[in-house]
Amino acid sequence: MTAETGVDPLLSRVAEEFGTPAYVFLGDRIETRIGLLKSAFGERFTLSYAAKSNPNPVLLAFLEPRVENLDISSIGEMRLGLKAGWAADQMSFTGPAKRDAELEEAIEGGVGELIVESVDEARRADRIAREKDRRQRIMIRIGPDRVPKGFGDQMAGRPSPFGIDYEQIHEAMPQILALDNLEIVGLHIYSGTQSLVPGAICENYRNFIAIFREVCGRYDLTPERLVFGAGLGVPYFENDKPLDLGVVADDIAGDLDALRGEARFGDTELVLELGRYLVGEAGYYLTRVTTVKTSRGTRIGLCDGGMNHHLPASGNFGMVIHRSYRMHKVGGGDPVGKINLSGPLCTPLDKIGVGVNLPEITAGDVIAVHNSGAYGMTASPVLFISHPMPKEVFAVGDQLRDATRRLGDL
Ligand SMILES: Cc1ncc(COP(=O)(O)O)c(C=O)c1O
Repeated sequence: MTAETGVDPLLSRVAEEFGTPAYVFLGDRIETRIGLLKSAFGERFTLSYAAKSNPNPVLLAFLEPRVENLDISSIGEMRLGLKAGWAADQMSFTGPAKRDAELEEAIEGGVGELIVESVDEARRADRIAREKDRRQRIMIRIGPDRVPKGFGDQMAGRPSPFGIDYEQIHEAMPQILALDNLEIVGLHIYSGTQSLVPGAICENYRNFIAIFREVCGRYDLTPERLVFGAGLGVPYFENDKPLDLGVVADDIAGDLDALRGEARFGDTELVLELGRYLVGEAGYYLTRVTTVKTSRGTRIGLCDGGMNHHLPASGNFGMVIHRSYRMHKVGGGDPVGKINLSGPLCTPLDKIGVGVNLPEITAGDVIAVHNSGAYGMTASPVLFISHPMPKEVFAVGDQLRDATRRLGDL
């Protein structure tokens, strides 16, 4: 956990000029990541950015000219996308419990595709489209019956609120096909995420391909689009080995090419839907140590921001055993020993680091929590204890732009 010498001057500037707590997003890193995906997969995949991972408006605007599609999961995300310059027809709308009011606004607003997650949702969308005299493009979200081992989070292969279980797809398809105001333009699968294991990712994609072939063949669909929920993970913890994207791309290329070689899929756009792999490693959360104490033999640094802004780093976003995110002291030094870091909330859950090996820490030091570009503030209880919202800063090269949001911006 030594200083990241390259980025530290910029992080120090942010802490000085904007104050802490603060998120910093590095546009150059996002750009590099997009380049990596494009060069690994070539033309095989287009990209769809999952706004849920980070809907910061400046970041959304940065991505618009660089990524083909935007996946939204609420009408709030649709509004943010529109404000940031995305066209409605570039958007797909996923989400398990869409309300009628959301369907109405999305359909009225010309959303590209509605990702239908149940027969009931399809019926409601059909009724709303009819009332608006529209024919709405949809994709059907299927939940596979199995997900290989190696994913941090699993959305299928077990009882799940997401999509239509593959075991029930043949009951559902005829009912959806019969709805006149919906046009099925493709299928969508997102069944697992946060995998650092190329073999698991490829096995999952092969399972998607088998399902896509079977369902399209059975119902004679020639899909415009097939969405592959990417599942690509980032190395949150000290011993995580970063994902080797080249291995994934080389392993799956033949299967994708074989699919595209079939007449039915010759013109199909294959879409990789992802969030954290695009933006996760491009973000840091900066929190300043206000006090250092020793409690019953343990050194604890008390910080000005914590779980209220960064729930995942506090270990309360689905982690079973607390593991600390990678982090370093801005300005560096060699590690001298272990310290716990906690935030400003009056709860023992507010732990940003447990036993992290850091240089000497004193009041005023700034800690940079890595991998904070995705599921940071968007996944956090910012109202709890009523501390101010963190600053958000978007950097391109050495240009810093204030990207701070206020509550109620939606
Ligand atoms: C439907 C859907 N799309 C996209 C994503 C983004 O996943 P990630 O940020 O892990 O790439 C998720 C994550 O839960 C999802 O459920």
